[in-house]
Amino acid sequence: MPTIQTQVPLPPLKDLTDDNITENTVIVNNQSSSPRLRYLFNRLVTHLHDFAREVRLSEEEWIAAIMFLTACGQICTDTRQEFILLSDVLGLSCLVDAMNHPKPANGTAGTVLGPFHTHDALEFEQGESICSSGKGEPALVRCKVTDTSGNPLAGVSVDIWETDETGHYDTQYADRAGPDCRGILTTDREGRITFKAIRPVSYPIPHDGPVGKLLERLGRHPYRPAHMHFKFIKDGFDVLVTSLYIRGDAYETTDAVFGVKSSLIVDLEHISDEDLAQEYELSPEDWLLEYDFVLVSDQEATELKIKNAERALKTLGVTVAVVDGLPIDAIE
Ligand SMILES: [Fe+2]
Repeated sequence: MPTIQTQVPLPPLKDLTDDNITENTVIVNNQSSSPRLRYLFNRLVTHLHDFAREVRLSEEEWIAAIMFLTACGQICTDTRQEFILLSDVLGLSCLVDAMNHPKPANGTAGTVLGPFHTHDALEFEQGESICSSGKGEPALVRCKVTDTSGNPLAGVSVDIWETDETGHYDTQYADRAGPDCRGILTTDREGRITFKAIRPVSYPIPHDGPVGKLLERLGRHPYRPAHMHFKFIKDGFDVLVTSLYIRGDAYETTDAVFGVKSSLIVDLEHISDEDLAQEYELSPEDWLLEYDFVLVSDQEATELKIKNAERALKTLGVTVAVVDGLPIDAIE
């Protein structure tokens, strides 16, 4: 039996009505010893109940929602995450990323992680290809990573992943033998990484499951504009999860998961320079993608997060204790 905290006198939980069910549910949850968990469930229950009251949730709709969430769980596997997809198409992932990884004006914008990042990507040397042959139109990618003062950052772990030319990630193939079109490079002394990949293509998010059906009911398409994902990790810096989007894509302004930011849209050019192409055993007609990323220090990110939390809570008219940028229920 878990230990039950009894700091809060419990009212008799009977004869509850639609007028007092919310406050009583909050009270019984307040037995938790965690101030943050108490706050989370106070607000979750309050908003959830108010949602039901406001829309006059019917029993049919309530069971439809339960069956929908059940279907989301049933289609999940080790390599398919329908709930992240659901969070993405509801705009929640974009919101959570923005709150947790705020950027100063000169920091590279973050964007959604998406459901296709894996933890089995192989490490590559500078100049190597993260894609096996025949995966798409070859592209040379050259990036530089600096801090917000413009100092090059060496030793940054850069995790990259993209689809093949058919718009599928390796994890979407039943016969996946191992990671492909994904890899990890480490920035050199000048903060640079150079690698070969393929020209990104637009693709539909998996829409053969419950989230796809939901999008259809909502009159939305499931497409994401062509992009390449990046995740940067270095001690002392806030983890940067972002993507580069290719300018001119048909879905540039209607991304199904709301991930596009103007500052992350890049022009894809031909390599043109014969010497450069030859150096990487490519053709001048192959593609060249270049971008400079700016990481934000942990300290900068933490200060911004706290400042943004205080401003947002003030705007919402919420008076509550805040610890490390997170509101808590401080009542003991
Ligand atoms: Fe993606």
